[in-house]
Amino acid sequence: MKNKVVTRITGTGSYLPGHIMTNDDLSNIMDTSDEWIFSRTGIKERHLAKDETTAFMAAEAGKKALEDAGVEAAEVDLIIAGTITGDYVTPSTACEVQEKLGAVNAVAFDINAACAGFMFAFHTAHAYLQSGIYKTALVLGVETLSKILDWKDRSTCVLFGDGAGAAVVCADGEKEKELSEGNGGILAFEQGSDGRRGMALNCCGRKNRNPLTDNGWIPSYVSMDGQEVYKFAVSTVPVSIQRVLDKAGLHVEDVKYFVLHQANIRILQSVAKRLKADIGKFPVGLDHCGNMSAASVPVLLDEMNRKGALEKGDKIVMAGFGGGLTWASAVVEW
Ligand code: COA
Repeated sequence: MKNKVVTRITGTGSYLPGHIMTNDDLSNIMDTSDEWIFSRTGIKERHLAKDETTAFMAAEAGKKALEDAGVEAAEVDLIIAGTITGDYVTPSTACEVQEKLGAVNAVAFDINAACAGFMFAFHTAHAYLQSGIYKTALVLGVETLSKILDWKDRSTCVLFGDGAGAAVVCADGEKEKELSEGNGGILAFEQGSDGRRGMALNCCGRKNRNPLTDNGWIPSYVSMDGQEVYKFAVSTVPVSIQRVLDKAGLHVEDVKYFVLHQANIRILQSVAKRLKADIGKFPVGLDHCGNMSAASVPVLLDEMNRKGALEKGDKIVMAGFGGGLTWASAVVEW
């Protein structure tokens, strides 16, 4: 029997900015209503950063995850942040977090996979740990989306929020056993990308403004074909989840919770229906957080962990999907 390194989530943390913006607050500054937003998305309110930076929120979430795992910052040898809203082009958010936590022994870098960013970072950490290169990873999903939103575009700005989530992922070196023996950890993962459909959800970066090409470029913001993205999510996510369950040799009924990216309640309902899964197994965080892109999954996971909803041996599916287009799913035994 082939031995494998078991990689486990050993701690979680999150940080939400102090300022809460309700749907009613939004209706005071633009032509929208609680009724429109809630009935189409399930969102009631979201947290918006005022003074908090992306790196600050990520470091706060990371600190809590390290405390939860009982891991010292100096023990961390890998930090990966899933984000599209870093404070700088360089240094990366992960490098800023390394500095803030004093994780002097870590290698740190960011991953850009939008709403699947945390899951891509998680899978990358898993692969490094499985290969034996690193032992202890801090994986972050963090966004300050409010700075890349057009606050005059009611069709996008009401959907999103700011926040950060983190997970400590460790290689269980002392218990390298066959995964099928039920030793827990990350049982299977799968992910994909479709750049052909990338423009369905985009935010233009800087354009060249050197003396040869000065083109009067002005900054632009998140732009989305909502219906295209909706169709992508409800068709791709159930297939990805079924695929990862097949890889793990599990069935929908074996799963206690489906911790999905929190874009829209209708997407959660449609995925549940297509999988023939009980909607009660799909925890909801978007009601109070909106869509936090890469932060959605780890914040929700941390909320569940802290309220004691996750018990040893529970099988949990986590899935992210969004800009790129990108998607990723994992099955974890808690
Ligand atoms: N408040 C009030 N009215 C609004 C509004 C708002 N915030 N935003 C848009 N509208 C209006 C539109 O102008 C349009 O009016 P019109 O019919 O007079 O032109 C009407 O509401 C319908 O707009 P539409 O875009 O067709 O709504 P929709 O039913 O497709 O719902 C989404 C829009 C964004 C909620 C929906 O497409 C969706 O959830 N898509 C998935 C997006 C997503 O989750 N993306 C992130 C994935 S990571």
